[in-house]
Amino acid sequence: MKKIDQASPLHLRPVALGDEAAIRAAARELAAEGFTFAFGLDTASAFAGYVAHLDARRLGQGLAPGEVPETFLLAEVDGEIVGRLSLRHALNDQLRTNGGHIGFGILRSHRRRGHASEILRQALILARDLDIERVLLTCNESNTGSRRVIESQGGVFGGHSPTDPAKRLYWIALA
Ligand SMILES: CC(C)(COP(=O)(O)OP(=O)(O)OC[C@H]1O[C@@H](n2cnc3c(N)ncnc32)[C@H](O)[C@@H]1OP(=O)(O)O)[C@@H](O)C(=O)NCCC(=O)NCCS
Repeated sequence: MKKIDQASPLHLRPVALGDEAAIRAAARELAAEGFTFAFGLDTASAFAGYVAHLDARRLGQGLAPGEVPETFLLAEVDGEIVGRLSLRHALNDQLRTNGGHIGFGILRSHRRRGHASEILRQALILARDLDIERVLLTCNESNTGSRRVIESQGGVFGGHSPTDPAKRLYWIALA
């Protein structure tokens, strides 16, 4: 597994009310690549409601049938948001074939600096704390960056998604 500086300056933290402008800008930027930075942001009527929605989801409150609890965290370096982590606490039928437990995204100007690998390293510690024994990650065959990030953190290729042959499944055992 790739060695990463233990004293990384990257910190994961929950979304705060003051993040609205930065999150909306990040969401616009990644939407242009077809990547959702902030699930549920568009449908929230006010940012405070969005923050409350994230808190509730983390606690497993107000979930639609089949939805699982999720921790959404921002990745910050030197006070600047560089990306985000979504950690699903369990799998459902959809996540088993597309999405997995962990998703991450990095803003364009912060890429190729090891941030995604560091997010995943820290996410695996959080996943262990949630008693997840085996983490599933999925990525598109064509997403070389994502593949390399997952493989750098010990991801073991587990075949292609049964519903999408262009999607790779990776497992990381934590137990
Ligand atoms: C894929 C993504 C997360 C990579 O983030 P990143 O912070 O640049 O990744 P890292 O710097 O940790 O790179 C890890 C490795 O992947 C390589 N890499 C990263 N992006 C790459 C790319 N586009 N092409 C080839 N290699 C790439 C890095 O060089 C590094 O290689 P190394 O281990 O040999 O040093 C980022 O490009 C992104 O957010 N893309 C859009 C959203 C997305 O695809 N998310 C993943 C789906 S869950």
